Amino acid sequence: MIHPERYLVTSALPYANGPVHIGHLAGVYIPSDIFVRFLRLTRKDVVWVCGSDEHGVPITLKALKEGISPQQVVDKYHGIIKKSFEDFGISFDIYSRTSNKTHYETVSQFFKTLYDNNKFIEKTTEQYFDPEANRFLADRYITGTCPHCGNENAYGDQCEKCGTTLNATDLINPKSTISGTQPVMKATKHWYLPLDKNEAFLRQWILDEHKEWKSNVYGQCKSWIDAGLQARAVSRDLEWGVPVPVENADGKVLYVWFDAPIGYISATKELTPDWEKYWKDKNTKLIHFIGKDNIVFHCIIFPAMLKEEGSYILPDNVPANEFLNLEGNKISTSRNWAVWLHEYLIDFPQMQDVLRYVLTANAPETKDNDFTWKDFQTRNNSELVAIYGNFINRALVLTHKFYNGTVPAAGELNETDKAAFTEISKLRGLIEENILNYRFRDALKEFMNMARTGNKYLAELEPWKLVKTDPKRTETIMYTALQITVSLAAAGMPFMPFTSEKIYGFLNIKPLDWTEIGNSDILHAGHQIKKAELLFSKIEDSQIEYQIQKLSKSKKENEAANMKTELQKNEISFEEFQKMDIRIGTITAAEKVPKTKKLLKLTIDTGIDTRTVVSGIAEYYEPELIIGQQVSILVNLAPRNIKGIESHGMILMAENSNGILAFVQPDKKTENGAGVK
Ligand code: 2FM
Ligand code: ZN
Repeated sequence: MIHPERYLVTSALPYANGPVHIGHLAGVYIPSDIFVRFLRLTRKDVVWVCGSDEHGVPITLKALKEGISPQQVVDKYHGIIKKSFEDFGISFDIYSRTSNKTHYETVSQFFKTLYDNNKFIEKTTEQYFDPEANRFLADRYITGTCPHCGNENAYGDQCEKCGTTLNATDLINPKSTISGTQPVMKATKHWYLPLDKNEAFLRQWILDEHKEWKSNVYGQCKSWIDAGLQARAVSRDLEWGVPVPVENADGKVLYVWFDAPIGYISATKELTPDWEKYWKDKNTKLIHFIGKDNIVFHCIIFPAMLKEEGSYILPDNVPANEFLNLEGNKISTSRNWAVWLHEYLIDFPQMQDVLRYVLTANAPETKDNDFTWKDFQTRNNSELVAIYGNFINRALVLTHKFYNGTVPAAGELNETDKAAFTEISKLRGLIEENILNYRFRDALKEFMNMARTGNKYLAELEPWKLVKTDPKRTETIMYTALQITVSLAAAGMPFMPFTSEKIYGFLNIKPLDWTEIGNSDILHAGHQIKKAELLFSKIEDSQIEYQIQKLSKSKKENEAANMKTELQKNEISFEEFQKMDIRIGTITAAEKVPKTKKLLKLTIDTGIDTRTVVSGIAEYYEPELIIGQQVSILVNLAPRNIKGIESHGMILMAENSNGILAFVQPDKKTENGAGVK
């Protein structure tokens, strides 16, 4: 395959509503950094753009929660995210942001072109409106009871307890999170992009012409297209975003997924006055690096927008990754189940490349993968330290020991020496092929094979012994080992740039081009190298245990914090409260309700009487272990028939954010029938 000379690479713009974690790095930014660094080493004309995605409802919600403005939210996180990327060597040509002027102008212009050419359809629909706050409510601004599991704090788009995707109109007792009042339906007009009109084009372009796309990407596109495409609204009733640039559109902004991908264009504009050659010349290959949740936006919606606009190229490939999990669980910002990049660097200073290595070796390229601290330790200790670091260290230390750091002159290379160079060149080809086909894990494996080649070469020839008997041959061996060291620095650059730069520093040379890898005479006899330091050091068990503890601690803290943030219910009067007759009672008998998972039939001595109560606590308590426990019971609740049993009253339970139940009970023995007030 002949690859063109010009590339435009984009990486998903992260939302500026939180810092970035290892999932972001593994899914998007490390693969794209490897790809771009490689292209630069092969002297391709490449620009790589990214920036913060600063619009969308989650940002306004975060602002509401923190009591600051959306602009303050994005200013804060844009800074944190940008710094994390710099710290990890993610080498964008520009890291921009979607709240800037160029972006607003570019997006408005894009919309207007489509609008003027009648590419949108206008539709009026009924949406939830908060009469008190005088605004329409995005799904996330509405909570209510989930019709599936009864969770009273389900959002208008999803119930986080049972995971069901919802429409705001599905919620029972919907409430506005802004004013707490019940929203009403109100008509509102929006602009829609008729994706259905692009169906035939998308089918041909993706399903026929891009069969080479990764199977996860191709598969998702196929199921979207096969299901039939529908018109998608590109505007929202919201104050935060790019205003819809037409008359009579007050209070309306463009949908975040309309503006964000155009951010790739605006960032390129900011980067270079020559931006059109990257966006409008068919010889440019446009590559979008994203996570799997962004596939439809980058493969279907954005291309449809570009196609309708007419003057832009379409992506050549969209190498989306699956997700990275952490210690067996989904990474979650809201549950604080994550390894944050800025925190990693505090605990593992200067060890960016170790994380880059582990995340690449374990990248979720074809399926979701798991990051574990144990695996992190093993890969560091038995791969980076024992193989790569060991070879470089031996080559440099022996050069200092034998020749005071001067590169020795080589005699004639024998078959073993030549075979080593041949192997290095062959591996260079394999790395190259894998990178160009977005197989970064395999590329990294071949790089480690290159390091193994060096290790094997020294282990077999044992220059540390041979130096005593055959100093001449030893010079050739050390000369060869040093050339292999140079090749490793060059080949490792896309994956572990900090390490490569260090090696170049020790070797006292300028970075090489990709094609020089495997060359047998880069370092000349007499060249002086500098003192070397260890590239990698062992990670101890205690460091790993600390990380694991930190994770479980932060998870617990976050659960506690989540509890506090549950919304307060509507105000009631004291009289209303007094209507509830709550007493202390004692469980005198308990048994499972047959054919149910959750229910226990309890007999309770309430001090007034002995009665039966059916309670949904079977998943948390063994019946025989709760006899004798005191509980609080609402005794004047109307009787209910549950699974054929008449239940008289309700046991009060405390429920934590994971849905785990605990009795609400007096802290000292209290007589049955005592009132709870
Ligand atoms: O999923 C996300 O994090 C989005 N902010 C990605 C946007 S990519 C693009 F289109 F800008
Ligand atoms: Zn639910």
